[in-house]
Order: sequence, then C-alpha cells, then structure tokens
Amino acid sequence: MAATGKTHENWSSRSAFILAAVGSAVGLGNMWRFPAEAGENGGGAFVLFYIFCVLLIGLPVLLSEVLIGRHGQANAPESVRRVARDSNAPEGWSILASMGVFAAFLILSFYCVVGGWVVYYIGVFISDLVQTGLAGGAFEGRAAGDIEGLLPGLFGNGGLMVGLNLGFLAVTMFFVARGVSSGIEWVAVYLMPIFFVLFLGITIYGAFTGNFGEAVAYLFTFDFSKLTGEVMLAAVGQAFFSLSLGVAGMMTYGAYANRDTNLGETSGIIAGADTMVAMLAGLAIFPIVFAAGLSASAGPGLMFQSLPIAFQAMPFGSLIGLAFFVMVFFAALTSSVSLLEAPTAYVFEKFKLARPVATLIVGLGAAALGVLSSLSFNDMAEFYPLSFIPLFAETNFFDTLDGVTAKLFMPIGAILTCIFVGWIADAKLIDDENGLDGVLHQTWRVLVRFVCPIALTIILLAGLFA
Ligand code: TRP
Repeated sequence: MAATGKTHENWSSRSAFILAAVGSAVGLGNMWRFPAEAGENGGGAFVLFYIFCVLLIGLPVLLSEVLIGRHGQANAPESVRRVARDSNAPEGWSILASMGVFAAFLILSFYCVVGGWVVYYIGVFISDLVQTGLAGGAFEGRAAGDIEGLLPGLFGNGGLMVGLNLGFLAVTMFFVARGVSSGIEWVAVYLMPIFFVLFLGITIYGAFTGNFGEAVAYLFTFDFSKLTGEVMLAAVGQAFFSLSLGVAGMMTYGAYANRDTNLGETSGIIAGADTMVAMLAGLAIFPIVFAAGLSASAGPGLMFQSLPIAFQAMPFGSLIGLAFFVMVFFAALTSSVSLLEAPTAYVFEKFKLARPVATLIVGLGAAALGVLSSLSFNDMAEFYPLSFIPLFAETNFFDTLDGVTAKLFMPIGAILTCIFVGWIADAKLIDDENGLDGVLHQTWRVLVRFVCPIALTIILLAGLFA
C-alpha cells in the first residue's frame, strides 16, 4: 500500500539520506554532552551502559521512526496518520508526532543558545591566533582562571548571548528555507565530510600529544559498582538525545527516503556512526584534558573551559582550538537544521504555506524562546517558569526547556512510537518497510513490543520521581 498525496521532495540518493541523518544525530550531543556526562558519571560504567542503550533501545526506536516517515512520505504527524489509516487504526495516534514536532521546536530554541557559545569560541581562537601567531600554545601568558572565565564572561553579557544565539538560528533558518535538496542535503554533503576530516585529525593529534592511555582506561574500564540508577538514567537520556529520537526528527528525515532504501541497514549505519563519533570524541577530549592534569568531571564546562586551558600547553594550540570549535560548529549546524526541519515541514504542509514563510514563522518562535533562554544565564537567572512543579522548582528557563524535553517529551514520544509500531500498526505494512529478515526481524519486533516500552516507562517514572 503506497501512501498517496506526497507533497515534498526526496533525498537525491541513499548516501545523502545517511549523511543528513548522521548529521542530525552527530552534534553538540556527541562533542559536548557525551564527554560531560561520561565524566560526571564516572567513565567506564556509563559508557558501557550507553552502548547497551543504543543497541537495545535507541536502534529499535530509530528504525521505528524512520519507517513511519518513509511510509507516510509527509511531515511527521501526517505520516503517523497515514500509517494509522493504512492499518485501520484511529488517526488520533498522530498526536504522538504532534507532540514530537512541538518538542523539536523547544529543543531547537535552546540548542541554538549553545550553538552561539561555539561561535563565540571560534571568535576567541581567531583573535588569539591573530595575536599570538601559529606556533605556540593558545592564550600565551594568560592564567588558567582567566581562560576558564571566558564562559562566565560570555554569560554575563546578555546582549552578546542573544546576538550569538539569534545568529546561529538565522544560519539554520537560511538552510532550511532553501529546502531538502539545496539546503538540508547541501549542508550535510559538504559539512559532514569536513567535520570527519577535522575530527579524525584532532583525535589523532590528541592521541599523540595527550595522555591517551589514561583516557582509554577511564572510558573503557567497566566498574560495575559505579552503575547506579542515576548513571543508567543519564546514559539512556544521552543515547536518545544523541540519536535525535522521541521528537519526530527522524520521522521527518525518513519521509524523504526513497522506497528502495533498506531502512534496517540504514538505521544501523546511523546509530553506528553516531556512537563511534561519541566514543572518539571522548578519546579526543580526555587525553588532552588529562595531559593538562585537569579533572574529568567538569561536566558542561569540560568542552568550553577545561579544553581551552588544555590547548594552552599544546603546540599549535590556537590553531587546534580553532579547528576544534569550527568542527563542533559544523556538527551543531547539521543538527539544528534537523530540529528546525521537523516543525517547518509540519507548518508548511499543514497550512499550505511556502517553505521560506513556514521557516520564518517557526524561526521567529524559536527566536523568542531563545532570547528567554539566553537571558536565563544573566538578567533572568531567577525566573523559574515552572516553579509550581516540584521537579522544576528552582529551574531557570533554559534548564526547564532542557528538562521538560529530555524527561517528558522524549520518553513519552518514544513509548507511544513503540506501542504504535509494535502493537497498533498493521504487521504486514511494518514488515514491508523495515528491511529486516529472519532473526533480526524477530529480535527487533520483540524489542519494540516489549523491551523498549517497558524500559522507557521505568525510565520515565524514575526521571520524574527518583
Ligand atoms: N542529536 C543531536 C546532537 O546530538 C541533537 C538533535 C538533533 C536532536 N535533532 C534532534 C535531539 C532531535 C533530539 C531530537 O547534538
């Protein structure tokens, strides 16, 4: 049963789809959040459980999302509606994707805030390169506290924060407005290869000049006594964020996939590439941080504060620092593009608008929320929007959006997706889409029907009440 009423473009090839989806998955989640989470949660045990979550929960949900999109060939809620219709199931299931589209919009708004910090550091390293030249380390003659102070310095400047945030968002809007093949695909096809080259270069550099042995031991020595409930919760949340799951992003990209793309295989490649980048990011950052004698558990400050200090002691530090943040910028941009595309595709198909108009409407909304997020680091630090809910009692605007999306929208969206694909949708239809045979198909079916929804429900409850 082919869905009719297709209203939008397709990827020009299977590799374009893979690059765009890997571009969505690989982003600040891998470069910034993964090392921070691994470091805060004790290293090895977190990493092992993370891989376990990717395989048993992330990958099955990823395949479920792209197959809904591919069958529907439309924006995420409409795709779910079409799968439901072709399965003689209630079309109201589309609510799972409507929630997702809204959540993607929320994530976009604060993701671009952090994207703005990356742009700031690109500026910092360019000016450092100009001042101190190529050969020596970065920030010659400046105290470590001074370098660490760059981030709080930025936070203190509300106007600059807002400007960088909106600048990053504007670049994202530019590419989404240009459409699937000349915008979204263009960014992925040109920027992802540059990203990989820079990334491998920096990893190899880190391995040779940094303390590689200590980093490997830290990340891959599994101490089971460290595997607490909290660590497990952090690992599964990280796996979801990193794979762009639970919020309709991968449904939207799946909708541009052609009928002859094998989705099972493609999902495996996407999850594999994303996980590899996360591991290598750890192996790029920790050797450099350890060589400088800094702590692994700096959390969010690891990439923005510890790493720049470490670049001080390294040969060609300014240049490596610049290359590093340019690379993170490319990764972040291909992700923010996917976060904007999910709500934009919905708005322009649903209200029959021109794509650039829809992009502008969604973008302006994200800009408004973004300003509030940017200001939660300074002028509005004491504004707690959901203070009436105990879980978010003393949580500023930025952290509230982060918490609501990670603790509520992502797990709920993923649970509903699993129930829909595993129990509600027509088994034959699903079978035709997923590209799996034999044992793999059976395993995936069991994971989607039983393992994922149960595990995700436990995670949802633990996140809310633990
Ligand atoms: N996965 C991206 C990262 O790791 C972020 C991202 C892009 C995302 N699209 C998403 C997260 C959709 C959740 C949902 O940086």
